[in-house]
Parts: sequence; structure tokens; C-alpha cells
Amino acid sequence: MLKVICVCGARPNFMKIAPLMEAFNASPKIEPLLVHTGQHYDERMSKLFFVDLGIPEPDMNLEVGSGSHAVQTSEIMKRFEPVVVEHKPDWVIVVGDVNSTIACALVATKLGVKVAHVEAGLRSFDRDMPEEINRLLTDSISDLLLVSEASGMENLKKEGVAAEKVKFVGNVMIDTLTKNRAKASESKILDEMGLTPKQYGVITLHRPSNVDDKENLSSILDAFDEIGRDMKLVFPMHPRTRKNIENMGLASRVESMSQLLRPEPLGYLDFLKLTSESALVLTDSGGIQEETTILKVPCLTLRKNTERPATITHGTNRLVDPNKDSILKAYREQMQRKMEDCGTPELWDGAAAKRICAVFEELA
Ligand code: UD1
Repeated sequence: MLKVICVCGARPNFMKIAPLMEAFNASPKIEPLLVHTGQHYDERMSKLFFVDLGIPEPDMNLEVGSGSHAVQTSEIMKRFEPVVVEHKPDWVIVVGDVNSTIACALVATKLGVKVAHVEAGLRSFDRDMPEEINRLLTDSISDLLLVSEASGMENLKKEGVAAEKVKFVGNVMIDTLTKNRAKASESKILDEMGLTPKQYGVITLHRPSNVDDKENLSSILDAFDEIGRDMKLVFPMHPRTRKNIENMGLASRVESMSQLLRPEPLGYLDFLKLTSESALVLTDSGGIQEETTILKVPCLTLRKNTERPATITHGTNRLVDPNKDSILKAYREQMQRKMEDCGTPELWDGAAAKRICAVFEELA
């Protein structure tokens, strides 16, 4: 029996951990434990996803909460170390690129426990992004690098990572999307918000580069105001963004935008329904670039770079400099594009977690 500790901590981890836990729990050769670091803790940033996705209750919650990068990362490490010492797993499995990912990978490797990284090899080549640092460091200490898209294989090869450590398994986030599409279609969120399919846009925004600087955030809001003349925009606000809008004195500006609907952060199923039926998504999230690719919904990513280039080469995604003029130009062009011509990246087929499980069964 192979004992593995699966780690999750922040919102984008939950849809990656769900299919892994399901596959491991169904395997006679694997005994999984689930650790939640508590990096995200609000009901709407965490619990709702466990309910929507049927993720089992974590075996442990480290309840680290928010803090600066150093405080949060070190607190996760301090609290995760005794868990690994007590349970003596054969592997620690981390997903994505958040602080919980690198913190737990570092703890495990220093205790001599093998680390597997799910979503390895992605690179934005922008070291101003905290996630890029987390990706580089996690990959460099991982024993098994499980890759979601072709660019990840190329990046790791260029970095000289031994080929036997790397496996192209596909995208677990798409496993979750594929599994939950039918269920999400029953969500009543459109009726509740008074929305008509294909006549509204969806916004998500939380990257520090976009929301921690007043000038950048104001310019982006100006673009939303213009697009709002054509369609309603639904903007479920991340707590970081909501707090910044208040602290920067932008709340009254946002409130005056009558076409901008601002619900609390939504659960997985409601959000999937909302994006599936939308005319356009504007985002700075990583995962949403991937989801819109499969949903064939036009996506504008308000960033200078992406670590997920398959969403551009195969999918519906386009990068846009996050300022008013660039956003409006790209918006007009993107609305003319035929999304049916877009394809699907290799191995984004709903079976990535099964392939990962098979890799671990071989090791058992
Ligand atoms: C984190 C990840 C980011 C990911 C994002 C998804 C890192 C470095 N960043 O960013 O890669 O895209 O999650 O959401 O790991 N807060 C709450 N309630 C919560 C969680 C956070 O109110 O449940 C507020 C706190 O004020 C906190 C702020 O949001 O200080 C930021 O949270 P934090 O986890 O530090 O980073 P995110 O911006 O969420």
C-alpha cells in the first residue's frame, strides 16, 4: 500500500485535488490522506468547493490563514512538518503554484519524503509573479513532475530535468470540468441574477499586479465601464480585490457602474454555469484560461504573459495588456472571432487523474 499525502490550500487547488482524491480512494493500492493548509478559509473560497465537488473532509486542516508571503509560507511549513513526521507518507503530492505548494514540497523533501508536483513545467517567465517563483522552486525539488500541457514538457527539457522524472499526464482541472458540466447546467444562477445566455460577460480579477496598484486597477475599471455599455458584466469579487477597491477609495466608482453586477465569490457549479453561458470572459486567473478553452467561450486574459500557452495556440484565449485602450481594442476583435475553430490541447480529456493514479500504482 502506497501512502500519499495530498495537499491543498487555496481556491484553485480544490478543483485539481478533487479528481485525484477520487481516483486514489478508488485504488486498492493507494492510501491517500488529505491536508488542507487553510491558506484560503472563507466559506466561499474553500468549503463551498468541497461541497460542490464532493471532496472528502480533509484529514487535517492546518488553519494557517492569510499573511505576507514569508509569514504564510513559513507558517505552513511549521505546521506541515509534524504531519509528515507523524504519518510517514511515501509521497507528498502538491498541485498548482500557490504558497501551500512550495511550502509543503520543501518540508517533505527535507524530511526525505518524495514529492510529486501536479501541473509541473508551466512557466510565465515572469519572476515578478509570486506563482512563478513557486513553480520554479517546486519543480526543482520534485521527484516526479506531472505535466498538464506540451509547453511544460519543453520547459522542463530546456531546464535539464531528467526525462525519467517527467510524465505528460494531462490536465486534472479539465477532469473536474468534464465531470461537473451536466450538474452545473442545472444551476439557477442565471435566473437568480436576471441574465440571458450569451448576453453578458464574466470578470475575475485578483493578481497583485492588477489589483494592488490604484492606477492599474482604475484603468481596468474604465475598460469595464465601456464594455458595460454593450452587455452586463458579472464580477464575483475576490476578497483581495474587494478590500483594495475599498481601501483605494474606488468603491463609489464601482457602485456607479450599473451594468457591473458584483456577487460574492461563487461556488464551482454556479461559476461554471455562468462562464459556460457567457459571451466573454475577462480574467487574470490561470485556471479560467483553461476552462474557457474547453467551453469555447472567448477569453481575454488581462496579463502580459501566460504560463498556459496552449490556451492561446489551441484555445479561445488572448493576452491583453491590462490597460483601458488595449482591453477595449482586444475586446472588439475578440467578439468577431469564431470560437468553433479552436481546438483542444492534448490530453485535456477528463482522464488525467486516472493516468496519475496509474503512475502511483506502478510505484506501489
Ligand atoms: C492566492 C495564490 C494565487 C491564486 C489565488 C486564487 C499565492 C502566492 N497566491 O492568491 O496564486 O491565484 O490564491 O484565489 O499563493 N482572503 C480572504 N479570505 C480567504 C483568503 C484570502 O479574505 O479565504 C484575503 C486576505 O485579505 C488575504 C488576501 O485575500 O490577505 C490574499 O490572500 P492570499 O492567500 O495571500 O493570496 P491570493 O490573492 O488569494
